[in-house]
Amino acid sequence: MSEYAPLVITIDGPSGSGKGTIAKRLSSEYGLRLLDSGALYRVLGLAALRRGVVLTDAVALEALAASLDVRFDVAEDGVQVVLEGDDVSREIRTEEAGRAASIVAAVAPVRSALLKRQRDFSRPPGLVADGRDMGTVVFPEAQVKIFLTASADERALRRCNQLLAKGFDANLADILSDVLERDARDTQRTAAPLKPALDALELDCTDLTVDQVLQSIRALILTKRPRLV
Ligand code: DC
Repeated sequence: MSEYAPLVITIDGPSGSGKGTIAKRLSSEYGLRLLDSGALYRVLGLAALRRGVVLTDAVALEALAASLDVRFDVAEDGVQVVLEGDDVSREIRTEEAGRAASIVAAVAPVRSALLKRQRDFSRPPGLVADGRDMGTVVFPEAQVKIFLTASADERALRRCNQLLAKGFDANLADILSDVLERDARDTQRTAAPLKPALDALELDCTDLTVDQVLQSIRALILTKRPRLV
């Protein structure tokens, strides 16, 4: 790939590993577009809940995914997620929407129906994409691939603090069991399971600060695209 092709950075990992934070920082630092692919699955989960679609009904979910009227608008405080004209940025962050997302995401035809929407985010000057299968399935040609992990206890604690800071109710024990349940579902499904790409840099950030994680990624970007840094 030419040095002038759009730079694509993929960040995959389990729930709560800090992918979103790292992706946002890299996107603003390098002036790249941002794809929060989890938000897409969360919107689909929410749309299914709202319409009373059974979360394992592959035929209904595939149709819903193909016709999903969702926009990601750039807002002052980040990205505004709009489903059928309704701002759902806050609602998709609830545990209920996350759980629904994880269930619908295991349905193979749903993943195929959302593939093109995700790939369309890759335009010059480049993209930072976070999720579960960004480096393995959606952007296998990406030059910089990161697999970000942290212990389940640490991820549950971070998630709990995040929810409390946003004004949601949060219970650490419930969140830990939810994290473990979601890890199991995301890694054990047959359709695009959560796993590191063979060429991904694996970073366990349990005891690392955000800046330490960013340092390692910058060093990797430097080896791939020296002129960018
Ligand atoms: O990253 P997140 O917690 O917002 O994602 C919510 C769920 O969506 C997650 O449990 C699994 C699913 N997901 C996926 O299967 N593939 C992706 N690329 C992103 C998310």
